[in-house]
Amino acid sequence: MFIDEKKYEGKSIIQGEKGYLEGTADCLKQCVDWIREYDFNDYLEIGSLYGIMIAFLAKAFPDKRFSAIDPYDSIVRPGNSLAGNRELKIFIGNNHFLDNVWLYRDYSRNVLPMLKEKRNRFDLIFVDGDHTHEAVLGDIAGSWEILVPSGILYFHDSPQEGIAKAIKEHSEIIGLTPMKDKDSGNNFFRKP
Ligand SMILES: C[S@@+](CC[C@H](N)C(=O)[O-])C[C@H]1O[C@@H](n2cnc3c(N)ncnc32)[C@H](O)[C@@H]1O
Repeated sequence: MFIDEKKYEGKSIIQGEKGYLEGTADCLKQCVDWIREYDFNDYLEIGSLYGIMIAFLAKAFPDKRFSAIDPYDSIVRPGNSLAGNRELKIFIGNNHFLDNVWLYRDYSRNVLPMLKEKRNRFDLIFVDGDHTHEAVLGDIAGSWEILVPSGILYFHDSPQEGIAKAIKEHSEIIGLTPMKDKDSGNNFFRKP
């Protein structure tokens, strides 16, 4: 896959052969650093869109495992637009040759409990799906249960109102202050 870094409206963009990674370039860099530093083996991304971030990580770390959740249901509604068949085809184009990538094509509210039931556990979970407050609360609760101790729960767009509120509520429940990553300023929790 061809990777070309550009700037777009002040945001860093990684332009792949197919699709693009908008605004998450800093998060990608942070994930690479964490995977290296803590020797994380299992990464989960909620909301994978073109699958650029996961393809990049899976190529960089061929011995580690990368899972994505996205329903690709082609629905547009305020606060949450779902990717569709076009984006799914691009995801497949970017990832089909990587044998360390899995896609769960369904809503996170269905996949997270299924992963828990199957005893799948993750070291690093990147939350970037439905950005509404209620959905993020659900993603946090479901992710926290399948995150290993010392694992990291990481949020894209964490300053957005609904997301920030959900992070604050979770922080009160678990008694931990959310931390901020060094490049993008997005919040994360490290599970005790
Ligand atoms: C902002 S994009 C993700 C961008 C991607 N993480 C990246 O770095 O390029 C949001 C994605 O979340 C997906 N999504 C929306 N609601 C979801 C849900 N309930 N469960 C899983 N994915 C969801 C959308 O289909 C869309 O592909």
